[in-house]
Amino acid sequence: MGGLYVAEGRLGEASFDNPCCYRPGQFTGRRDEGSAGAAYHRRMVGPDEIAAAVEALRAGEVIGLPTETVYGLAADASNPAAVARIFAIKGRPSDHPVIVHLAEAADMSRWAREVPPVAAALARRFWPGPLTLVLPRAPSVALAVTGGQDTVALRIPAHPVALAVLRAFGGGLAAPSANRYGRISPTTAAHVREDLGEQVRIVLDGGPSEVGLESTIVACLDGRVTVLRPGRIGVEAIEAVSGPVTKATAAAPRVPGSVASHYAPRTPVELIASAAVADVVTAHQRDGVRVAALAPSSPAEAAAVAWIVAAPDAERYGRDLYSHLRTLDQAGADVIVVARPPEAPDWVAIHDRLTRAAAG
Ligand code: TXA
Ligand code: MG
Repeated sequence: MGGLYVAEGRLGEASFDNPCCYRPGQFTGRRDEGSAGAAYHRRMVGPDEIAAAVEALRAGEVIGLPTETVYGLAADASNPAAVARIFAIKGRPSDHPVIVHLAEAADMSRWAREVPPVAAALARRFWPGPLTLVLPRAPSVALAVTGGQDTVALRIPAHPVALAVLRAFGGGLAAPSANRYGRISPTTAAHVREDLGEQVRIVLDGGPSEVGLESTIVACLDGRVTVLRPGRIGVEAIEAVSGPVTKATAAAPRVPGSVASHYAPRTPVELIASAAVADVVTAHQRDGVRVAALAPSSPAEAAAVAWIVAAPDAERYGRDLYSHLRTLDQAGADVIVVARPPEAPDWVAIHDRLTRAAAG
């Protein structure tokens, strides 16, 4: 077996052209870890690392696992003690359900007591990929996994390292995002280390997550299809497979990501109209408020302690959003000003996360 080669930068991209991070008097190519050049060395997660991770999972350990959406904190979903460890490490209330990650769509029936045809069709179309399906749970599924609910959330991730671990492990892996409860989801192995330190012995480094936002969550229950959390896969794409979806209501199953203050940096976030960014930054500066900014325009003056020029397209914007929010959160600013992105279907998940970040 040759091993999986994963560049720490994104394969197929010659350079990080955009977005860029400007600091007063300085230009740096945007990278999370060290200088721009250093980001392109390759790392390998090979058979030995996969085997060690699987052995740890079988022993009830919790590991950091790369996926194409965000990094997960993974444990054996059929081992309640291992699942309890996830909650302890994250500092998450134990009545919150976690997603079970699978290697094969055929495994759905081990976790769901019923797989409606529409769920099977969505799985065929989008798995492996950034879609989570909420289905009636099979009786054997631990209540620790489902947060005591009668439903279970299932997903096959598209990341080669996650798939290699899942295939070698053979069972389901419970994995919430690998951040402390309520904080920004990690999109690199370094973010996981930053948040969880030595509480997790193994963090597999699969490079930066390609999607950068958590999966779209779709419930297929009681003959209805409901989008519980927006993600890269938009409502139109779901409806093209499922037909019309219903809107989530308060009665929908609990999704902690839907708590208003989720995904929040420590620094307060202000979401403001793009055209007003320059004025707001200037006004803050006049008041002695230190500003960090994420906006589509370049800074007019060195008014901010950090300024990230946002990508113009939703795909790259979403991919880098959490990493940018972390960078800006660490800039020593009093406030993070974020220009409100375009109102268009591609941007729905981004609006959702930004609104929650601003509510923090
Ligand atoms: O992209 C993702 O989904 C990432 C990666 C690691 O797969 N995982 C992730 O997990 O975002 P977490 O726990 O941070 O968010 C999972 C969401 C939560 O909002 C949870 O409430 C919801 O899935 N969920 C899990 N089981 C559910 C269920 N039975 N019914 C409704 N929502 C459920
Ligand atoms: Mg999360």
